[in-house]
Amino acid sequence: MKCDVLTLFPDIFTAYLNESILKKARLKNLLDVRLYNIRDFSLDPHRQVDDYPFGGGAGMVLKPEPIFKAMDFLREDGEERKVVCLTPQGRPFDQSIAESYAKEKKRFVFLCGRYEGIDERVKTLVDEEISIGDYVLTGGELPALVVIDAVTRLVPGALGDERSVQDESFSWGLFDYPHYTRPREYRNLKVPPVLVSGNHRQIDHWRRKQALIKTLKVRPDLLKKMILTERDRGILAEIETESDKDS
Ligand code: ADE
Repeated sequence: MKCDVLTLFPDIFTAYLNESILKKARLKNLLDVRLYNIRDFSLDPHRQVDDYPFGGGAGMVLKPEPIFKAMDFLREDGEERKVVCLTPQGRPFDQSIAESYAKEKKRFVFLCGRYEGIDERVKTLVDEEISIGDYVLTGGELPALVVIDAVTRLVPGALGDERSVQDESFSWGLFDYPHYTRPREYRNLKVPPVLVSGNHRQIDHWRRKQALIKTLKVRPDLLKKMILTERDRGILAEIETESDKDS
């Protein structure tokens, strides 16, 4: 993924982009992130980027000029871009959007808002508004990092082991199954015996069943949206019979 980030706080990004998977992806040229400070494009002698809202009300609004100027600057290279604005009023971000972004050939621009909002005229520059959830954050920086992270994991070669992305939660539309590592027993807490049985058919069955149990309990809405296989329906029937016995 290639992207430009327009933000008032570029430093927020550097620590996260310089660790772990994102750092490795950048070194492998699978992720290219360029950070731009919106303030650098201010026309104001005091580099002010916000102003009072017309019509009154609390808070400040990001002015249009620095953002339009920044976009003019980015577009000088002639490369086509998809402009995404991070805002609580956007389309809810999910794994299917992450998958489509991972396949996108265009360079992205992630526009991070702050203050009470952005001058509405900036929306004429924007292709899509994205929200990472129904809560209000201080700005679009964390949401932009969330999007960059989720998308980068899906870029082929970004994860060491390509199986991990396949197995992951939500690639199935289900929660992940529980994971265990050594030691086999810790503070009297034991690893489920099936995982050390060496029987891979039973291990697959157990994992799928645990993923279904957890999803059923916490997010039954996800399960309703999923296309269930014959095998899943069988496991769900098994789960139901067992819960009937327990009650
Ligand atoms: N900016 C502030 N809150 C946000 C959210 N929930 N999603 C995306 N951008 C935001």
